[in-house]
Amino acid sequence: MKNPIPRSIWVEKGQPDFVQIIDQRLLPHEKRVNDLKSTRDCERAIADMEVRGAPLIGITAAFGMYFAAIEALRHDDGITCLEKKAGFLKATRPTAVNLAWAVDQQMEVYRKHGFNEKLPGVLFENACRLMEEDAEMCRSIGQFGLALIEQIAREKNGGTVNILTHCNAGSLAVIEWGTATAPIYHAHQKGVNVHVWVDETRPRNQGANLTAYELGEAKVPHTLIVDNAGGHLMQHGQVDIVFVGCDRLSRTGDAANKVGTYLKALAAGDNEVPFYVCLPSSTIDWGVSDGVSEIEIEERNEREVKYMPGMLNGRIEEVLICPETTPAYNIGFDVTPARLITGLVTEKGVCEASEDSLTRLFAESTPKAS
Ligand code: MRU
Repeated sequence: MKNPIPRSIWVEKGQPDFVQIIDQRLLPHEKRVNDLKSTRDCERAIADMEVRGAPLIGITAAFGMYFAAIEALRHDDGITCLEKKAGFLKATRPTAVNLAWAVDQQMEVYRKHGFNEKLPGVLFENACRLMEEDAEMCRSIGQFGLALIEQIAREKNGGTVNILTHCNAGSLAVIEWGTATAPIYHAHQKGVNVHVWVDETRPRNQGANLTAYELGEAKVPHTLIVDNAGGHLMQHGQVDIVFVGCDRLSRTGDAANKVGTYLKALAAGDNEVPFYVCLPSSTIDWGVSDGVSEIEIEERNEREVKYMPGMLNGRIEEVLICPETTPAYNIGFDVTPARLITGLVTEKGVCEASEDSLTRLFAESTPKAS
């Protein structure tokens, strides 16, 4: 099977001086490619959401650490400089654990290798390795999730399987395939009839701007809905399964994802619609036990709630949708407790959202108690 749309980040062969990304703030209206040439560029791309989605910001940060090593070697105080830049990268967005995970992976390589002129090359290779590993993990999530869709298709005698998704946990949020979209792409390529309900996902509209764009490019049948429509569709038997992504999973199976995910899980539970969270193991935070109280939730600028961007007369414009003086509160994520999750679709298989199941599935990567 082939990844349905081009990658979101890449390095041109023989040109390691810069990394290229698609500027996701402009999609679907404009496809602009930006070059990242420094740690600062990577920090800015993550903070301003030129790149977004937990795995993709992790990989961008891994390349940021490569640039950090180049920049630190030019400083008298090189090691302190490298450590500081690692901290800046980690601080760009607080909820998605893949970011800290990727920076820590690079710091681990630095500690083993030492601080010398070969370090940038070693960190570059490691960033490329993490990028390929992410693509492979998502492909595998797709294979395991496919079985869930095929099961429903059999129960419906080949009828269309209606899937609801929130935000963009698609190819654009990772390197290839996506997490929540990976099973959908695999099913579609295998000829299973699927149709996707795409939540618009206010305030930044990642569903409308990115998921709808991706599914359109991949020719997967889909329909855009407002965020509040999902409950009604579930009550009327129009949703067979929900697939969402994840920004940080506690070891007990609580899942932080784009704000609004929790409400979809409540509606799914009330209507006995299976609710699956799809994630690679780089999204598991083994240090967190209670997701609701322990996961830091990103608070973003109130402007994103008050103004709506879109295409107007051939230009991307922003319009005010409330009185200018209205106060707004903009939280980026919420946490769905494990009890509302039917299962987790990971690169190693599908498991229950519980500490026991996660520990069994990821036995060798689970940190040992001291
Ligand atoms: O704020 P964003 O666009 O970075 O949020 C993205 C999500 O919430 C995704 O669902 C999540 O990162 C999973 S990506 C495979």
